[in-house]
Amino acid sequence: QKPYVFITRKLPKETISQLEQIVEINMWPHEEEAVPREVLLSEIKKADGLLTMLSDKIDSEVLNEASSLKVIANLAVGYDNIDVKAAKQKGITVCNTPDVLTDSTADLAFSLILATARRIVESANFVKEGKWNSWGPLLLAGADVHHKTIGIVGMGRIGEAVARRAKGFDMKILYHNRKRKPNAEVSLSAEYKEFHELLKQSDFVVSLIPLTPETKEMFNREAFQSMKDSAIFVNAGRGATVDESALIEALKNKEIAGAGLDVFQQEPIDIDHPLLSMKQVVALPHIGSASVETRMKMAELACRNIRNILDGKGAETPVT
Ligand code: GLV
Ligand code: GLV
Repeated sequence: QKPYVFITRKLPKETISQLEQIVEINMWPHEEEAVPREVLLSEIKKADGLLTMLSDKIDSEVLNEASSLKVIANLAVGYDNIDVKAAKQKGITVCNTPDVLTDSTADLAFSLILATARRIVESANFVKEGKWNSWGPLLLAGADVHHKTIGIVGMGRIGEAVARRAKGFDMKILYHNRKRKPNAEVSLSAEYKEFHELLKQSDFVVSLIPLTPETKEMFNREAFQSMKDSAIFVNAGRGATVDESALIEALKNKEIAGAGLDVFQQEPIDIDHPLLSMKQVVALPHIGSASVETRMKMAELACRNIRNILDGKGAETPVT
C-alpha cells in the first residue's frame, strides 16, 4: 500500500506528478478556500505526509490526531503556523521552502518601498478614477528612495537580497539581526545597529523577521515613536510582529509617513480595518513569494521533501 499524503490546497498538477508516482494523494480541491479544521483533523489521522499552507494552524490538537505522520511540508519559508516542538516530539519532520523564494520576496519588499514612497497605488487609482485634470508641480509628489537610508530588520537570506537591491539605489544600508552578519557587512556595506538606533536613523524600515515569541509585537508604540516622522515602514515578514493599534496611532499622529504592508495580524484583513482607509498605506494580500515561477518551485520543493522523507532519505530543507 502506497503512503497517503494530504495536501491542504489545490496545487498545479505538474508540481505533484513526481510525488504522485510513489504516494496516494488527496488534495483539498479549492485554490482560494482554506481547508476546514474538521477535514484537517480527520485527514491527519490517516496521513503519512502533509503539505500545508501558512494559513493552516498545525497545533498540538491537530498533531495529536496523527498516527502515522512522518513529514509536514509547509509551502512557505515561515513556519510559525506549525507547532514544531510538538511535531518533533512525535518524530515528525517539519520542512519549509527557503532559498527558492528569496529573490521574489525581496522584489516584492522592494516594490512596497517604491510603491509607498512614490504613491504608486494612489496615483494609478487617481488616473483610473478620472481625476487627472492637469499636470501639477507637486501633484502626487512622494519621497525619493535613492540615496536614502534603509534599515533592514531581519538580515536572513531575504534581508540580504533586499540589501542587494538597495545597493543599486545607492542607499545607505543599516541592519539589525539577532546575530551579526560579518559577510554582509563586507559584501553589502551593511552596518549593524541596535534596534532602536536603526529605527532612529532609517528613512525606510523594512521588516523581514519571522514570528517567534521574542519577535511578537516587536514593532510597538515605542518602536514607531523612535522612527523619523518621514519614515516609511514596510512589513513583508509576519503581521503579528507588529502591534497594529500602535501602527495606526503612529500613522494617524503623523509619527511616521507611511506603511507598505504585505502581512497583517489577521489575514485576510477585514475590509473595515482602519489601515485600509489610510491613503498613505499600501496593503497587499500576503503575496511576497507570489510569482508563478517561484510558487511552482516552492510546491516542487515541498513535494520533494515529502517524497524524500517517505523514501527514508533526509529532507532537503528541514526546519531545525
Ligand atoms: C511567506 O510568508 C513565507 O513564509 O513563505
Ligand atoms: C528567512 O529564512 C530568510 O530567508 O530571510
